Amino acid sequence: MKTRRAKIKSSGAIQEALSGNIYCKIICGDSREELPKINESADLIITSPPYADARKKHYDSMHPDEFAEWMFTFSDPFFNILNPKGSFVLNIKDRIVAGQRHRYVWETVIGFQKRNWYAIDDYIWYKTNPMPGYWPTRLRDGWEYCFHLAKDKKPYEDQEAVKVPIGGWTEVRLANLKGKSAQRHDSENKSGFGRDLRNWVGKTKVLPSNVIDLPLVGKNYGHPAVFPTGLPAFFIRLLTPDNGLVIDPFGGSGTTGIAAINLHRNSIIIDNNEEYCKAAYDRISKEANLNGTRMIKEGF
Ligand SMILES: C[S@@+](CC[C@H](N)C(=O)[O-])C[C@H]1O[C@@H](n2cnc3c(N)ncnc32)[C@H](O)[C@@H]1O
Repeated sequence: MKTRRAKIKSSGAIQEALSGNIYCKIICGDSREELPKINESADLIITSPPYADARKKHYDSMHPDEFAEWMFTFSDPFFNILNPKGSFVLNIKDRIVAGQRHRYVWETVIGFQKRNWYAIDDYIWYKTNPMPGYWPTRLRDGWEYCFHLAKDKKPYEDQEAVKVPIGGWTEVRLANLKGKSAQRHDSENKSGFGRDLRNWVGKTKVLPSNVIDLPLVGKNYGHPAVFPTGLPAFFIRLLTPDNGLVIDPFGGSGTTGIAAINLHRNSIIIDNNEEYCKAAYDRISKEANLNGTRMIKEGF
């Protein structure tokens, strides 16, 4: 595994990193105000903001027409806290408004591109257990976006860290390549695509696709919109080095903190709701593989 450390400005954090220990800091406050106070730069922001017009009982939310403009108020604080090769992963889903899909999610991502972010790729979180129900014009909603944005066209990526086993087919298929299989083969339909099976001989791992299969979280963590730990974990592996710094500026129940600690990354979890900060602190302390991690509370 590559071991590039996040650019760390504060001497406390340097001591922390050098000692081999990591920290998880939970901050209660508005992330637009808290991020500029942080004297470190991060490798990754991974987060799921409040969805438009959802969970009004639980926390602030805005009309879909206003969502993109609201998200843009976070653009500078997010951009400024990341190191030059850093990434921002935005997990989000649009809503049905007046019978059709509102496109505030697309407006948001296009707006971020206009604000100097590169849109590196669109990942899909495929929910293996979507909510049951009946909708006259739609089927069960089984996926959400994870947009990978970055400050540079070539952000830090450790693709080795997310590779998956190539699968048993190779032993049979590649054992004795003959004829067309033993040379480059261009597509029959003249699409310009081609393949050369010889490139796969001896390989045991391949890149996964940009569709991430994970079930919805069934457990009650004192928060209404928890994402599965596997979601931030996937992007932390791909987009941060060991000992790096991950920030979740809409931290909720602290899922990103758990994923970061378990993967030996430092983390800062920010939420403007004190109850959620307390719940996140308790949950992380109980569930994460702390192993010497320093837990820090701020503002609650
Ligand atoms: C969708 S939830 C995140 C859930 C989280 N991914 C988890 O797994 O628990 C969004 C969170 O953003 C918080 N929030 C809303 N506006 C905020 C702001 N301006 N600054 C910080 N947190 C905010 C809400 O309190 C809510 O807990």
